[in-house]
Amino acid sequence: MTRHAHITGWGMAVPERVLTNLELEQIVDTNDEWIVSRTGIRERRIAANTETTASLGTQAALRALQGTDVNASDIDLVIVATSSPEHIFPATASVIQDNIGATHAGAFDLLAACTGFIFALNMAAQAVRSGNIDKALVIGSETMSRIVNYEDRNTAILFGDGAGAFLVEGSAEPGGVLSCVMRSDGSGGDLLSIPAGGSFMPTSPETVANNLHSIQMNGREVFRFATRVMVAATRDAVEDAGLTLEDVSLIVPHQANVRIIEAAARGLKMPLERFAINVEKYGNTSAASIPIAFCEAWDQGRIRTGDNLVLVGFGGGLTWGAMALQMTMPERVITKVDRRRSRRIRTLARMRSMSRRVGRRVESLFLRTHAEAKT
Ligand code: COA
Repeated sequence: MTRHAHITGWGMAVPERVLTNLELEQIVDTNDEWIVSRTGIRERRIAANTETTASLGTQAALRALQGTDVNASDIDLVIVATSSPEHIFPATASVIQDNIGATHAGAFDLLAACTGFIFALNMAAQAVRSGNIDKALVIGSETMSRIVNYEDRNTAILFGDGAGAFLVEGSAEPGGVLSCVMRSDGSGGDLLSIPAGGSFMPTSPETVANNLHSIQMNGREVFRFATRVMVAATRDAVEDAGLTLEDVSLIVPHQANVRIIEAAARGLKMPLERFAINVEKYGNTSAASIPIAFCEAWDQGRIRTGDNLVLVGFGGGLTWGAMALQMTMPERVITKVDRRRSRRIRTLARMRSMSRRVGRRVESLFLRTHAEAKT
C-alpha cells in the first residue's frame, strides 16, 4: 500500500518585542528608507532574555498539535531545523521533545541554514512514507538576534526571531508532500557563515574580540545566488510532482528580501499575488520563515483544502530546495479547549521531566551508597 505524508497541523510563535527600523537607526549607521527600499523589511521580532530557540520552538510545536487528535506521546520523530541552536549539544530537538513530553520520539537537529525547514520536512515525509514512522513534528526555530552583530549594518537589519512547526502524518490517502528538490554547493560556504566556535576555529579571546561568532555575509553574492536558484528549484519541484506552475495556487518562499521574491516571481512569470510575503513584519527568521509565512497565509484564508503549494528556500551552506505539496486537511478549528490542552501537555511534560531528573539523582545516590557499602 502506498503511503503518503500529509501536513495535518501547523503553528507559529514569535516574540512580542518588535525592533523597528527607526530603532535600528539608533544602533547602527542605517535608515528606514534604505532598509525598506533594499529589503522590504520594516520590523522584526527579538527574543526576550527568557526566550530561546527551544522555548519558541516548543510553543510552535504545541500549537501545531492544536485542532488535531494527536498527543505528544504519539509523535515518533522530532526534527528541529535551526542555525541558532540552544547548545551545540544536546540538540534543541531533545529539549523540545522533553518540553512537550514526546516520550516515544527520536529527536535531532538539522543544520541547513534557511533551507533547513524544507530539508527537515522532506526527511520526515520520507520516514513517514517508508512506513518506518507515522507521525513527526518538524520545527524551524531561530533566535537570530543571538548570533547577529548589531554593529554590522550589513546583517543587523535583516534578521529576526521566531518559530514555526508542522505536524506530518502518514495515510493511504493521496496528497501531502508530492516532491522535493534538495541542493547544496559547499564551495560557497564562506558567503554566509559563522566562522568560529566549531572544530575549525575553536572559541578563543581573539575570536570573541573579532566578532567571529556572529553572522558574516557577502550580501551581493548571496542575493545573486538566491535569485538564480529560487526559480530553478521551484520549476524542478513542480515538474517532479507532475504539475505545472498554473496548478500551484500559492508559493511560500523563504522570507529574506522582498526583492529576491520579486525576482523569483518575474523569473517564474507569476504575479506577486501568488506569493506569501510577510518579510516586512519579521525580517529573515531563517529556518522559521517558511512555516511562519505558511501559518499567516492559512489564517488569511489564502490556503484551502486541495490547494497545491510550493515551499522554496535558500541559505547558508550554500543550500537551496523546493517542495511541492497538496493540502489535504479538511478544516482546522482551534478552540479554547485546544489551548487548555496545550497548557496541560506542557505542565505534565514539566512534571514528567522533573520526576525523571529526580529519579536519576536518587538512583545514582543509591548506587553510590551501595558501592561504598561494598568497599
Ligand atoms: N544601511 C544603509 N546603507 C547601507 C546598508 C545599510 N544597512 N548596507 C549597505 N549600505 C550601503 C553600502 O555601503 C553601499 O553604499 P555605497 O554604494 O556608497 O558603497 C550601498 O548601500 C549599496 O550596498 P549593497 O551591498 O550593494 O546593497 P544591496 O542593494 O546589495 O543590498 C543587501 C544589501 C544585504 C540588503 C542585499 O545584498 C541582500 O539582501 N542580499 C541577500 C542577503 C540575504 O538574503 N541573506 C540571507 C540569506 S538566507
